[in-house]
Amino acid sequence: MKKNIFLLIFLFIIKFCISLASSNKTDQQALLAFQNLVTSPSHLLVNNWTINTCFCSWFGVTCNSKRQRVVALALPSLQLQGTISPSLVNLSFLRELNLGNNFFCGEIPYGIGHLPRLRVVDIQNNQLQGSIPTSLFQHQTVRKISLAFNKLNGEMWKGSWYVPKHRDLNLRNNSLTGIIPPYVGNTTKLMNLDLSGNRINGSIPMEIGNITQLTELFLDDNELTGLIPATLFNISSLLKAALGINSLIGPLLLDEGIVVSNLKSLSVRTVNKQV
Ligand SMILES: *[C@@H]1O[C@H](CO)[C@@H](O)[C@H](O)[C@H]1NC(C)=O
Ligand SMILES: *[C@@H]1O[C@H](CO)[C@@H](O)[C@H](O)[C@H]1NC(C)=O
Ligand SMILES: *[C@@H]1O[C@H](CO)[C@@H](O)[C@H](O)[C@H]1NC(C)=O
Ligand SMILES: *[C@@H]1O[C@H](CO)[C@@H](O)[C@H](O)[C@H]1NC(C)=O
Ligand SMILES: *[C@@H]1O[C@H](CO)[C@@H](O)[C@H](O)[C@H]1NC(C)=O
Ligand SMILES: *[C@@H]1O[C@H](CO)[C@@H](O)[C@H](O)[C@H]1NC(C)=O
Ligand SMILES: *[C@@H]1O[C@H](CO)[C@@H](O)[C@H](O)[C@H]1NC(C)=O
Ligand SMILES: *[C@@H]1O[C@H](CO)[C@@H](O)[C@H](O)[C@H]1NC(C)=O
Repeated sequence: MKKNIFLLIFLFIIKFCISLASSNKTDQQALLAFQNLVTSPSHLLVNNWTINTCFCSWFGVTCNSKRQRVVALALPSLQLQGTISPSLVNLSFLRELNLGNNFFCGEIPYGIGHLPRLRVVDIQNNQLQGSIPTSLFQHQTVRKISLAFNKLNGEMWKGSWYVPKHRDLNLRNNSLTGIIPPYVGNTTKLMNLDLSGNRINGSIPMEIGNITQLTELFLDDNELTGLIPATLFNISSLLKAALGINSLIGPLLLDEGIVVSNLKSLSVRTVNKQV
């Protein structure tokens, strides 16, 4: 009996060690595969991310202290060039990815949206192309996405959005097409929505009025048509809205009854874009 218990404990310890070792290795390999596709004038990653030091001490890498797993990768404004390795998908504890203000090109790895603990994705101001992984619009923990100032040219995801924690979506200045789907109304925690400077068409869905915590809405400089939905003026938290440089028509307020708007700034310049 005693023997068995010792054996069990022994097996447990062995298993524990193996799992520690393998998790360490997975994160390290994922980071090295990422490094492999990146260059920079300062050779920062080549010089700093060396295998004789623990990856938790590498520049831009943050680990949780308990398990030594990567929780944040923050490498903004370092003139990094290359593509974003799909290996990042193996950083299964990652919460924050910040690669903003670099020269990354190619596509956003599709699996990013399957990282279960992801909260912040900031890859703004790069040269990314292609579509936004649709799984980001179905993510239960994501709070902030900024992909502004890239060359993303896919269609806006028109399927259902399920993002219960999402507060900040910034896709400004890309070449996104498609429509704003009625599902946008399901982003009930959203406070900032910026889609300006794209090629989004169709009309603004009246469900936008369901985003009851929205404070800033930028839809200007797109190809939107139709009426400005009256529901927009029912969002009492909305302070700033820019809708200009579209082809919106019609009276600003229809004959709806109660309007609780606290809007401090509304721009609806009706300048049509050059066709
Ligand atoms: C692996 O994890 C162990 C225990 O957390 C730690 O002591 C060790 O430094 C880690 N190794 C690497 C390469 O990170
Ligand atoms: C890598 O960068 C970190 C953070 O700046 C620093 O603490 C560490 O000493 C550097 N390691 C090497 C090998 O340069
Ligand atoms: C993730 O890690 C596994 C195991 O190390 C590896 O086989 C796989 O290729 C990795 N995936 C990516 C996308 O790098
Ligand atoms: C999402 O929005 C659609 C259309 O606006 C609605 O029919 C659906 O019930 C919503 N789903 C959830 C989970 O809120
Ligand atoms: C954003 O897009 C507008 C027009 O689409 C353009 O005039 C402006 O220069 C762009 N800004 C940046 C920083 O790329
Ligand atoms: C939006 O643009 C696409 C082409 O990019 C076109 O096929 C579609 O009919 C347009 N939709 C509306 C509502 O204008
Ligand atoms: C969303 O808005 C629409 C139209 O404004 C409304 O009919 C619907 O009940 C709302 N849905 C939710 C889940 O609040
Ligand atoms: C605005 O909200 C009020 C109170 O909830 C409601 O009676 C009214 O119909 C709403 N108006 C629009 C345009 O959604």
